[in-house]
Amino acid sequence: MYPESFQESIRKVEANRAANAAMTPRRMTAEEKDALLKEFHPDYRENEFELLKVGPNAGDKVPHELAAMLQAHPRVAAGEVDLTKPAYDVDVLVIGGGGAGSSAAIEANEAGASVLMCTKLHIGDANTMMAEGGIQAADKDNDSPARHFLDAYGGGHFAAKKELLAKLVYEAPECIKWLNELGVEFDKTAEGDMVTTHGGGTSRKRMHACKDYSGAEIMRTLRDEVLNRGIPVLDFTAAIELIKDDKGHCAGAVMLNMETDELFVVRAKTVILATGGAGRMHYQGFPTSNHYGATADGLVLAYRAGAKLLYIDTLQYHPTGAAYPEQIFGALVTEKVRSIGAMLVNCDGEVFVHPLETRDVAAASIIRETSSRGKGVDTGRGTAVWLDSPIIELKHGEGTIEKRIPAMFRMYQERGIDMRKEPILVYPTLHYQNGGVDIDTDCMTGVENLFAAGEVVGGIHGRNRLMGNSLLDIVVFGRDAGRAAAAKAKQTTVGALSIDHAAAFDKSLADAGIKTDLVSPKLLPNYVRERVTLGHAEIQ
Ligand code: FUM
Repeated sequence: MYPESFQESIRKVEANRAANAAMTPRRMTAEEKDALLKEFHPDYRENEFELLKVGPNAGDKVPHELAAMLQAHPRVAAGEVDLTKPAYDVDVLVIGGGGAGSSAAIEANEAGASVLMCTKLHIGDANTMMAEGGIQAADKDNDSPARHFLDAYGGGHFAAKKELLAKLVYEAPECIKWLNELGVEFDKTAEGDMVTTHGGGTSRKRMHACKDYSGAEIMRTLRDEVLNRGIPVLDFTAAIELIKDDKGHCAGAVMLNMETDELFVVRAKTVILATGGAGRMHYQGFPTSNHYGATADGLVLAYRAGAKLLYIDTLQYHPTGAAYPEQIFGALVTEKVRSIGAMLVNCDGEVFVHPLETRDVAAASIIRETSSRGKGVDTGRGTAVWLDSPIIELKHGEGTIEKRIPAMFRMYQERGIDMRKEPILVYPTLHYQNGGVDIDTDCMTGVENLFAAGEVVGGIHGRNRLMGNSLLDIVVFGRDAGRAAAAKAKQTTVGALSIDHAAAFDKSLADAGIKTDLVSPKLLPNYVRERVTLGHAEIQ
């Protein structure tokens, strides 16, 4: 149920609905996109960034909130934990319990390594679980990995590391097979063929989905596989510092039991960072679609250990975060809603952008519409635009919404909004970190024996990721990292353990004149002190 103040705008949306459903909005030219992004995309707000002063990326631009964490004090000092008495001694330590960590753990276990998985929440509490729309793979006759490459490379502004992107697209079809065989319930036709749709920026229908529960279904399957294989998992256990050995190779981590506050040591021949993203950093005051633990921990741990980061000045704001009602503020409204026909319209019911422009372009268009053009709807917590979801049923018939996007339908129905009949209000929400730790094609970071996979990695997608390439990358690079780390463990002998690199980093802060009371990694967001806003609008 929408308040009276929205009704006039809703009437305009309804009046234009049939005409909007019948039209195909024009795609922007490359020049128009560039100009739009520079003026309206949050990545271009110079005052929201600063240059790092210390570490491997000194001189590079990062959001203020991330700079504060990368240049904060370690949580543990030498002497606070006995490095000579590891509580666990394994071949491969996997830090992170989402899709990438689980894929890595499965493959490392398959390769015969002893594996320990640690996660600061609970296995499966991860952005993977929250992913909705689908997973890309070029496995239809009219498609090819080369086309997939071109779509993703262009969508990422030609900035992706080509060798990583090539791995992503060429290994994609095999990943879908693997997931299917593990038991993921993909949407299929009566004949058993995979149902595929478009996403923003795709030239072929290659989005495989499990309705709009794709991530939850993939995570369910991977978690079952980890547990069925008997891989040990330590829940509520955060890595707070990486450990190196006397050769300077990564050799484990200092862990914090989040329930008892006890510290302990895991010694490992190789370590895989799969800690996910950073939405809960709420860069620029944006809300987020991310899970509670997405606080950039992996970037901090890798950076302090000496790993270089790539493209950390580029974030993905998903164009359609829920802007109303309050209880779902910032939650993901999957791109699939637009893939199957919904249109973005302003307060006057006018279509202002092609619904499947790439995400950065769609998000910037919404910000322009609600700011300089003054065509937003006042939600009481900032302005937003309509996503006219009833167009879906107008185009494809009654029942389509419940059948194709039941999670969305339920999320709104529970809050008194029937998206089959009423449009929904959306605004960009912080969704993904395009940048992250730099890796080679074996998923190794700049620190020997430290591997990384999933959202913590940068460079696979360039400066903007396409929908469905993240569920794909966690599986492709998670599996590859697991295999590579297991193989490397076989050739590795661990020397004496040390966290001297953390103390050295701490000293470099002082040498650079950085004064801070902050410690990192952050581990959890603190909503007692932080105010979440829609862009810069204050909470009422
Ligand atoms: O819109 C979505 O369903 C999100 C998908 C993704 O980030 O890949």
